[in-house]
Amino acid sequence: MTIQNKHILIGITGGIAAYKICTLIRDFKKAGADVRVIATPNSLNFITKLTLQNLSQNEVFVEEFDIKNWKPEHISLADWADIMLIAPATANTISKIAYGIADNLLTSVACAFSKKIIIAPAMNCNMWNNEAVQSNLKILQKRGIEYLSPEIGFLACGYTGKGRLCSLKKIYQAVDEALNYCSKMKGKKVVITSGGTIEEIDPVRYISNYSSGKMGLALAKSAYDMGAEVVLITTKDFCVPFKTIKVKSAIEMQESVNDEFDNADYVIMAAAVADYRVKEHSEQKIKKTDNDTITLELVKNPDILAELCERKSSLQIKSCCCERGKKPIIVGFCAESENLLENAKAKIAKKGCDYLVANDISRKDIGFNSEENEVAILSQNGEIIKLEKAPKNIIARKILECINTK
Ligand code: CTP
Repeated sequence: MTIQNKHILIGITGGIAAYKICTLIRDFKKAGADVRVIATPNSLNFITKLTLQNLSQNEVFVEEFDIKNWKPEHISLADWADIMLIAPATANTISKIAYGIADNLLTSVACAFSKKIIIAPAMNCNMWNNEAVQSNLKILQKRGIEYLSPEIGFLACGYTGKGRLCSLKKIYQAVDEALNYCSKMKGKKVVITSGGTIEEIDPVRYISNYSSGKMGLALAKSAYDMGAEVVLITTKDFCVPFKTIKVKSAIEMQESVNDEFDNADYVIMAAAVADYRVKEHSEQKIKKTDNDTITLELVKNPDILAELCERKSSLQIKSCCCERGKKPIIVGFCAESENLLENAKAKIAKKGCDYLVANDISRKDIGFNSEENEVAILSQNGEIIKLEKAPKNIIARKILECINTK
């Protein structure tokens, strides 16, 4: 049912497994999908354009500069599709996409594609085991591009080994699941904060922290992939296909979060907010004096999360004051360098958020500035879910699945 009326864009590259994709196109069509095919010029050595055209009941796209309308084909195809499947994907195409090379229609569309991409590699087993290919696959995976491992078997080149296109059933199911995933948060508004706040001292100096904003970014991307309307309030510069609001200080972050709060379904405070700011920000650069010490007086910043939770509880009493009568699920993050669970339990009780995601910043391999994370999700009812170490995009997805239960 998920596939019906969906726009599936299939990229076919130059490998012998290209012939198998004909069956897959027919299966998608039978399930009611609208299928368009981009065939690389090399793939047409293995199958014909006419076959693909007849099966997809659509024009087949090959040349990048075969321009029919004012909008370049690589942009209109990327806009049209709900999902992009590249099968079979050769070592060459995988590596080009990993490096952002856009030298034909298929790689240009992949480069312009902001929704889900699934690739199904197929190649000779020695090519599959090549270090460059493996590291390029890791690059793609880190960016949220899913790949379906090839299978071990007899290969067209005469070898027996890993490299055969995985089963069509597996590819079909992966597309079906991804399309289902795309609508899991449809109609929901998710507000996410990320990055460390910047508290200015004078025009050249500030107080901040090591937060890279990557966990908040991963959450925002996952929520977007799940079909949510996303607002990312961040101290960092990110180029993303959803609304971002750039802020600096805790006060600015609070103003933006408050503005977005009213019709939000989820508010996720992944930002590392400075607890204190300088009492008097100097308009001019503070000059060095003959004294050996200098004293900066700091004042407490508002606790954005705790105040949001209070605001939510007042909404529960008079919910008609809220624009759409919504009570957002509020999620906090906590960064601890010792006694992780003990501190996290005390924090969720004190702040009053629905969930608290706890991570251990004493470990160098996870958390601040790293690509991976390992967290425990605490909920108000005392439940604790531990997520094993994984890339931040996988952790983000699991956090959203855990909080998005209604
Ligand atoms: N937070 C916030 N406003 C602050 C400080 C923190 O909204 N002024 C939020 C963070 O975004 C995070 C959660 O509160 O979601 C916990 O942040 P953390 O720094 O771990 O806790 P603190 O309350 O600052 O307590 P402490 O630094 O003493 O551990």
